[in-house]
Amino acid sequence: METIATFFKVSLPEYLRSLPLPDTFWGFLTLAGKDWLYILPAAGAVGVVAYFVVSKIKSQCESCGDTIVNRSVMKDQEKVVHSYDMEDLADSVAFCRCWRSKKFPFCDGTHNSHNKVTGDNVGPLCLSKKSKGSS
Ligand code: FES
Repeated sequence: METIATFFKVSLPEYLRSLPLPDTFWGFLTLAGKDWLYILPAAGAVGVVAYFVVSKIKSQCESCGDTIVNRSVMKDQEKVVHSYDMEDLADSVAFCRCWRSKKFPFCDGTHNSHNKVTGDNVGPLCLSKKSKGSS
């Protein structure tokens, strides 16, 4: 444990103080090859830490969009459920699957603007009754 403490309290600060970092960004252009070799471990460590931080932030942002599908329909309910008797439905009906319709659970065409804005490809579930005797 003492070795680790010595590394973080003594060796690492001494190494960081001794890095040949220039005063300006353009000063990096004047560094010699041995200076770059001396900086390489620190630059690598910073790169690895930055990679993991960016990856973590990126993975959280990607999942943010997936957490909520329903943004406005019956938000006061614990669960949105609609039940219909098939006999009571019109001969053809389109159910919304984008959760943006003002007439939810029925499609009102809002998915078209949603798809245009987001690049998504959602559309309604269309049901139609076959009339008896037709094939
Ligand atoms: S409005 Fe939602 S699928 Fe058409």
